[in-house]
Amino acid sequence: MRLLLGGAPGETDPTAAFAAASRGPVGGRPWVLANMVASVDGATAVDGESRGLSAPADRRVFHQLRALADAVMAAAGTVRADRYGPARPAPEVRAARAARGQAAVPPVVVVTRSVDLDWEAPLFTDAEAPTVVMAPADAEPARLARAARAGRLVTAGDGDVDLPAALRLLDVAVVLCEGGPGLIAQLAAAGCLDELFLTVSPQLVGGDAARVLRGPALDPPAPLDLAGAAEEDGMLFLRYLVRHGR
Ligand SMILES: NC(=O)c1ccc[n+]([C@@H]2O[C@H](COP(=O)([O-])OP(=O)(O)OC[C@H]3O[C@@H](n4cnc5c(N)ncnc54)[C@H](OP(=O)(O)O)[C@@H]3O)[C@@H](O)[C@H]2O)c1
Repeated sequence: MRLLLGGAPGETDPTAAFAAASRGPVGGRPWVLANMVASVDGATAVDGESRGLSAPADRRVFHQLRALADAVMAAAGTVRADRYGPARPAPEVRAARAARGQAAVPPVVVVTRSVDLDWEAPLFTDAEAPTVVMAPADAEPARLARAARAGRLVTAGDGDVDLPAALRLLDVAVVLCEGGPGLIAQLAAAGCLDELFLTVSPQLVGGDAARVLRGPALDPPAPLDLAGAAEEDGMLFLRYLVRHGR
């Protein structure tokens, strides 16, 4: 991988450059970074899954970003479509996390309205860090009780999860959001997106797959600063910081 932009003078390792950025709580909530992959024409899925856009370099970045996170958040649609399992960091990642004072394994956080999840899946039965279910407080009580038995339950808001409040309740410093596009759009609209890692996959996909954000237009659009860029095998890795009210 070639570092094209960002990093300290003389730095050539994109991973080190991206990892070294300072991240920490903002206004009482965690720093939220999102990681998404899109084709050159903006599609975030091929045949309903993101893996068709992926490549070995992208998988490496995916795991490197997970290594930095205190929690890995995804909306229930993505958990179902991409068949999420629990995080399983490699021994060297666990050691690096311990050296930074982080828990060895980040929990996966599933954002859901229905609270209708597969409780027998490894995400719940085989998670070293108990999976967190983030749901509205007025969801069906029996389902909330099932979620609490399966892992950790965080409730905020009625109808929809109140994302800023729920993020504060997580009580961690850095949350990595892996999508889907609907959740990224809500985080951006709520002013809770701080950083976006966008991988541009060198493909044209066409069709009607969602863009990186799917939801109401942001008014005004959120300006971004390009803070880093790298390339491998024609795939671009772009790191953007969201300019909050600046
Ligand atoms: N290219 C990429 O990097 C990337 C990344 C992730 C996903 N994807 C793709 O995107 C697609 C899935 O995305 P999507 O937008 O259709 O679905 P999604 O955003 O992943 O999931 C939608 C679901 O999330 C829950 N949800 C979302 N916001 C909520 C809120 N505020 N409060 C409570 N629950 C909330 C609801 O779950 P319930 O249904 O349980 O109520 C909702 O039905 C898949 O094709 C996946 O492969 C691509």
